[in-house]
Amino acid sequence: MPNSSDQNQSAVLLTGATGYVGGRLIPLLEQQGARLRCLARSPEKLRPLCRSSTEIISGDVLDPVSLHPAVRGIHTAYYLVHLMSGSTDFEKQDRLAATNFAAAARNAGVRRIIYLGGLGDDSDPNLSPHLRSRHEVGTLLQASGTETIELRASMVVGAGSLSFDLVKSLTDRLPVMLCPRWLTTPTQPIAVDDVLAYLLAAKDLPTGESRVFEIGGTDVVTYGGIIREYARQKGLRRWLISVPVLTPYLSSLWLALVTPASFEVGRHLIEGLKNPTVVRDRRALVAFAIRPMGIREAIQKALSQGAN
Ligand SMILES: NC(=O)c1ccc[n+]([C@@H]2O[C@H](COP(=O)([O-])OP(=O)(O)OC[C@H]3O[C@@H](n4cnc5c(N)ncnc54)[C@H](OP(=O)(O)O)[C@@H]3O)[C@@H](O)[C@H]2O)c1
Repeated sequence: MPNSSDQNQSAVLLTGATGYVGGRLIPLLEQQGARLRCLARSPEKLRPLCRSSTEIISGDVLDPVSLHPAVRGIHTAYYLVHLMSGSTDFEKQDRLAATNFAAAARNAGVRRIIYLGGLGDDSDPNLSPHLRSRHEVGTLLQASGTETIELRASMVVGAGSLSFDLVKSLTDRLPVMLCPRWLTTPTQPIAVDDVLAYLLAAKDLPTGESRVFEIGGTDVVTYGGIIREYARQKGLRRWLISVPVLTPYLSSLWLALVTPASFEVGRHLIEGLKNPTVVRDRRALVAFAIRPMGIREAIQKALSQGAN
């Protein structure tokens, strides 16, 4: 393990930098003066999005050897990766990826890992594979012994967020929607700006034990409620017709027809819509000074940021 003086507090590694959340974190970390290093499978995608002072390193969380130079000298590492788009056996792949990353971080003496995962009740035997896997990744990162701050969120509302884009595409394209039962599932979406504020603030939390924080906007809503609010703000008239027999598999086929999201990722996400994703543990409101916005404002912001 390297000497503690090797780690400069401002040395930050960002994984998932080509993704939706990671991509929005880059300029914020750069503005804060972080000594930023990004890990990417395709570094050329990232170069135009970063300042010249930001180091971009080629790597893959499934390739342990590529992670060693990425974590060297790093104080705080953001883990903003999921492998749902590349693999049908994403649970196994995500397990392997998290194990590789956790081992590399521990061996390099990384002080803190910050991970954005998913809400959902661990004790629910019907938790979807997607949510189960998101929780398992948090557990594996924590088990490495490196202090891990896990933030659990439901839908991130913002232009370009896959889960929000599913709602947007469905509502934009279908005047009449056959609504499976999941439209009444309670959820607590959060605006991307609030997620980014939590991710940044997690870097500056006092050192301590690994912690899990549940984060959400001020409103507990249903997926039907999100669709109605989005339609209202867009001036669209939409009819939601309840069809209790639409299975998750059929729903995903239906989604694949009308949304740009990949069939594979959409299917995994939609399986999770049957599970309530609400904040039950309110410790984040004590540990952080962030006061998240509600669904109305979150959608307004998403529309003003280009989700038209
Ligand atoms: N968006 C939401 O609504 C939401 C809600 C709750 C939680 N979250 C969590 O937030 C995190 C980030 O989500 P996101 O929406 O930003 O996802 P995203 O846009 O789909 O980005 C996923 C990222 O993972 C990277 N990645 C995939 N496989 C990789 C590999 N083998 N090695 C290295 N990088 C790899 C991708 O890189 P490539 O460009 O190379 O593919 C991409 O940068 C995830 O943990 C997700 O579960 C998101």
